[in-house]
This record gives sequence, C-alpha cells and structure tokens, in this order.
Amino acid sequence: MRVGIAGLGTVGGGVAKLLASQAELLTARCGREIRVTAVSARDRERDRGVDLSNLRWHADARDLASDPEVDVVIELIGGSDGVARDLIERAIAAGKPVVTANKALLALHGTALARMAEAAGTPLGYEAAVAGGIPVIKALREGLAANGIRRVYGILNGTCNYILTTMRETGREFADVLSDAQKMGYAEADPSFDVDGIDAAHKLAILTSVAFGRELDFKGIHVEGIRHVSSLDLQFAEQLGYRIKLLGIAGVTDHGIEQRVHPCMVPLAAPIAHVEGVFNAVFADGDAVGNVLLTGRGAGEGPTASAVVADLMDIARGHRAPVLGVPADRLAPAGTAPMGRHRGAYYIRLMVRDQPGVIADVAAAFRDNKVSMESVLQQARDPAEAVPVVITTHETEEAGMMQAIARIAALDAVQEPPRLIRIEAL
Ligand SMILES: NC(=O)c1ccc[n+]([C@@H]2O[C@H](COP(=O)([O-])OP(=O)(O)OC[C@H]3O[C@@H](n4cnc5c(N)ncnc54)[C@H](OP(=O)(O)O)[C@@H]3O)[C@@H](O)[C@H]2O)c1
Repeated sequence: MRVGIAGLGTVGGGVAKLLASQAELLTARCGREIRVTAVSARDRERDRGVDLSNLRWHADARDLASDPEVDVVIELIGGSDGVARDLIERAIAAGKPVVTANKALLALHGTALARMAEAAGTPLGYEAAVAGGIPVIKALREGLAANGIRRVYGILNGTCNYILTTMRETGREFADVLSDAQKMGYAEADPSFDVDGIDAAHKLAILTSVAFGRELDFKGIHVEGIRHVSSLDLQFAEQLGYRIKLLGIAGVTDHGIEQRVHPCMVPLAAPIAHVEGVFNAVFADGDAVGNVLLTGRGAGEGPTASAVVADLMDIARGHRAPVLGVPADRLAPAGTAPMGRHRGAYYIRLMVRDQPGVIADVAAAFRDNKVSMESVLQQARDPAEAVPVVITTHETEEAGMMQAIARIAALDAVQEPPRLIRIEAL
C-alpha cells in the first residue's frame, strides 16, 4: 500500500519514522507492506530525522491526491480550512482513502466529509484527532458498538491538565505555569486554542457524534477555558474533596444531548481525578457494558503516530466501519441542549468585605432564584481586606444560578467577579 504524507512536523515526521521502524511488524500484521512513496511540507531542506531522498516531493500538498503512486493520503498539516481541507476533499473525490489527525477540520466539516467519503466508498480515518494515542474512536465505534451510550466525558487537552496539575502541586498561578509550559514545549506560543478550551471542544464535537450517532455540532458546545482558575480555588477544591479538571462532557438529558467544556470539580474518589499531568482520559457509560475508562498520552510524536498508523493498518487490512459510527445519511440532526437547562451543583467563591448582612444578601439572591445552598465556608476574618467566602450548592438549573450570580456580583460588599466552577457527579 503506497502512502503519501502531507506535513512532516511532529506527527508527520513521527508517522514516517514509525512506518520505517515497524515495517516488518506492520507487514506481518496487515499481510501487505505499507510504504511511503511521496511527501509534502513547506521546507524541503529541513532535516526530518528520516531518509526522504527516494520519495517523491510535492511542493503543493494537494498534488498528493492525484499522484498515481499514492494509494492513501495522510493529512498532517493542520488547520480547519485551506490546504488541509482541499487535499482531503480532492483525495476523497479521487477515491483515495484518507487518514488525518486534524480535529479542527473534523469538528467543523466532519459531517460533510463523512458524507463525501461514504458516497465515494472510501475510508476516512481520524483516530489521532481525539486523545492522541488513546484508541477512543475505535473503542466507541467498534468495541462498544452494541451499547447505547448515556454519557461520554474526558480530559481531552494535555496542556490544560498539565497546567492544572502543576498549579495544584506547586501553588503557583496560571500565568506563571503557562509561561513555563511554553518554555518546555507543552504549550504553544499562542496558547488560546488549548487554554480557552477550543481544542477540547473540537475533540468533544467528534466524540459526541460518534457516541450518539449525530451530526457534529461544534458551535452548540458551551466552552470555557482554564484562565480564570486560581490556585486558591484548587486549594479549596481539595478541602472540599474535589480536584479541578478541564473536562469535555456530552450526555443525554431531558432537553436533548448536552455538550460542554469547562473546568469541573471532580470528586477525589473518581478515577479521572487522578489522571494528572499531560495525560488524557476518556470515560464512556454504555447501557450494556457499564463504565469504561481509557487513559494514556493524548499528544506527542509517538502516541499520535501510533493512532495514525493504526488507521492505515485498518485500511491495509480492508477493515471498514461507517466514518461516524452510523452511516452518514442516517445520523441524527445536529442540536445541543441549551446550557441554561443544564442541571448540576456549583462551587462559588466570592471575595467579600466582611460587613454585617453580606451573607444574608447572598443567601437571598440564591433563594429568589431557587438555588439551595449546601455549604458556606468562611475561614478568615479581616475587617480591612476582602476575604474568600466559598459556597457550594445542591443540584439546580444553570439559568437560575446565573441570575443569582449576576445579582451577587452587583452587591457592594463583593469585591471581585464571583468565581463559579461546576461540580460534577461522576
Ligand atoms: N502534535 C500533536 O501532538 C498532535 C496530536 C494530535 C493531533 N495533532 C494534529 O496533527 C496535525 C499536525 O500537527 P503537528 O503537531 O504535527 O504540526 P506541526 O509540527 O506544526 O507540523 C505541520 C507540518 O505541516 C507542514 N505544512 C504547513 N503548511 C503546509 C502547506 N501549505 N503545505 C504542505 N505542508 C505544510 C509543515 O511544514 P514545515 O515542516 O516545512 O514547516 C509541517 O511539516 C494537526 O492537525 C494537529 O492538530 C497533533
């Protein structure tokens, strides 16, 4: 099977190396050889750590789609549009199987691409797009195919998990830890895709589609990142028996499928609370199997290449499944439950001036919006400075909660915008 690779960066270079180093094992397992015949990147001179001298070089990656010596196209350039999208569409139109790790592109155009690929009768592999080396697409689409899925959630961004873990372990603040993570290569120079939750939302959109057999709905996802999490909140979380994780969560509710990405208070007793550092994890609740938790490395050269090559092996073996688990023309229409209808418990931290009647005003705002408080924690008392007051609530509806918070934020004694973190019953 002759393969063309577009993009020779972290993942593309890793795939070229893995195909070379595991050649014998792959041939034995697939019953045929998988050989790179053509490549494309921007800089032809750069040393990629693999010998490219005998390979066809395409200055325009799109030409891989029409190269007669390429049977399968691997897109590892990235970006939701532009060259990556053109290349994939041309390859599918030419009837060539495609493998990609491009979550941004799939999150936005996945339904259309799945339709195109199935109409052309050609596979489209994207295991590497969600949770890197963890075979979560295969698990949901194949291993758990006999289950109705009630809920799927996960730690889908290693950069955020690394930052939250380090903040908790060292007591340092977000900006400080982020800047170190950038120096160590765990975070991009422009970190917003990661720390603002967008990357996790791309992956959640794909997971939701596969888990629930629906068209992708990236725009419907409620997304919050981790910039507003402070080391104080991480400490309070531990005191209350929780750990703060950025989760992507999709589940069946009375109002439809909900999809949300935001920092969560996760009970310390939940296994996912102990998935730390750059590791990812995906949890699924199936009606026949019960709970399944997969963890591993969600990014990096080796783990991501492992997933890309596994997709190639499926193609080499002639193994097929519908791209999104359900044939694309039978996917349920996109649509996500409104966040205002979300039900859950909440952690709220206020910085208040310690004066008579404050807690009564806060309690009234909750009462008037039908939010019932579970606990109130005020440890320090300082007449001169604002002190933290931490409140947890019983399960309530998000819309009422937000109204209560707006009223509390406007109180004279409340010195900073209230911090709100949702508590998850996992
Ligand atoms: N890195 C990870 O751990 C990881 C994990 C999961 C998924 N992914 C996904 O995998 C994809 C690739 O990520 P990466 O980290 O490998 O990125 P990367 O290191 O930045 O590599 C991108 C590659 O694409 C090439 N390229 C850029 N524009 C091009 C163009 N117009 N034509 C041809 N080649 C072009 C670059 O060429 P030059 O080298 O010549 O500049 C580079 O080799 C992305 O979709 C990403 O989201 C990455």
